[in-house]
Amino acid sequence: MAAMKVDKPTDWTDLEEVAAKMLVPGVTPQQVTDYYNTWAKSGYDVKIAQECSRPQTILGDQLKELFPKNREKYSVLDVGAGTGITGQHLRQIGFLTIDALEPSPEMLRVAREKKVYRNAYSCYLTCEPSEIPAASYDAAVLVGVVGHGHLPCAAFEEMARLVKQGGYIVNCMRKAYLHEIPEYIQNWEPMIARLEKEGKWKVVKMESYENHFIGKDGLLTVFHVC
Ligand SMILES: C[S@@+](CC[C@H](N)C(=O)[O-])C[C@H]1O[C@@H](n2cnc3c(N)ncnc32)[C@H](O)[C@@H]1O
Repeated sequence: MAAMKVDKPTDWTDLEEVAAKMLVPGVTPQQVTDYYNTWAKSGYDVKIAQECSRPQTILGDQLKELFPKNREKYSVLDVGAGTGITGQHLRQIGFLTIDALEPSPEMLRVAREKKVYRNAYSCYLTCEPSEIPAASYDAAVLVGVVGHGHLPCAAFEEMARLVKQGGYIVNCMRKAYLHEIPEYIQNWEPMIARLEKEGKWKVVKMESYENHFIGKDGLLTVFHVC
């Protein structure tokens, strides 16, 4: 089936317009990457850092609670690292070993310039095993990576493979997507239940917060990898 036609925003600094044109049902991962490649060159980094830093704060506070001291000893995978805003925040709160995984080359180019990442993986995270060895990280973190045409639900199972026993997966996403994206409507709850049943993780938190992105509520989820 041919990919649906998507419109480019006329003003990349207008977040409402960008969201309305980009975060739409039926958009393909390649179209999403094309969008981010352009957005990276059209002010994503400055605009999001200035106006949408709430999920980074929520994520950072949660990581400080999970890793109350010696954060320099722990390794973190920033999934869907974008331009590195999250990585920068992780560095500010004391994490020193941070890897980025990001499919958009232009987003990753900006992220690399921040010099906060040890390794940068230029790829999608999917249900398939990535090139990264199992049990590589103490935590995998995500900010804004769930969306139409973005991270497939099954990629959380791959994250459970990449995180060490006793480590955490911490995800900040737009709450409504659990009820809007067909794949998440169908697979999110059964996947969580199955991985709990298989003894791969435990849900330790699922909490709403306000103003994740352009006034929309967010959902913070924390999985403890077993
Ligand atoms: C809204 S941006 C968030 C970027 C960054 N986490 C931040 O907070 O600024 C979403 C990012 O997820 C990436 N992404 C989309 N699908 C992905 C996938 N399957 N695996 C990893 N990253 C993905 C996009 O390329 C994009 O950079």
